[in-house]
Amino acid sequence: MNILIIHGPNLNMLGIREPEIYGTLTLDDINHDILEYTKEKGFQVKFFQSNHEGAIIDFIHENYHWAHGIVINPGALTHYSYALRDAISSVGVPTVEVHLSDIQTRESFRKISVIAPACIRQISGLGKESYLRGVDALSERW
Ligand code: DQA
Repeated sequence: MNILIIHGPNLNMLGIREPEIYGTLTLDDINHDILEYTKEKGFQVKFFQSNHEGAIIDFIHENYHWAHGIVINPGALTHYSYALRDAISSVGVPTVEVHLSDIQTRESFRKISVIAPACIRQISGLGKESYLRGVDALSERW
């Protein structure tokens, strides 16, 4: 199974960024643990992080033929990017939306995900584990 792991805006700042909310792991730490986990399962992964909506959309367009599933943490794009939602719907690859923090218990603008309707599941509030459970959700459908 081939999986795209996509991280949206500001997730390159993990470790520095509001550690009381997002924890102290860096993005490299998280990607390392995802790689270990998926290797054990025999899955192939490609990682991508961008602070730019269009770059994430381009990455999805360029890689969807390869991918059987996508795990995406869209960052703040979650709450307003209809373009990203359309990109996910356009390629028809099963996608799981994940978040480190619990978006339902934070500011009211975070409770809305415009991405969720294009995804098979949303997993939120488990820190790094959200990504691993995202991989599990894809593998259950595989
Ligand atoms: C986030 C939650 C978003 O609301 C926020 O904008 C992020 C990170 C999370 O992983 O908890 O950038 O997606």
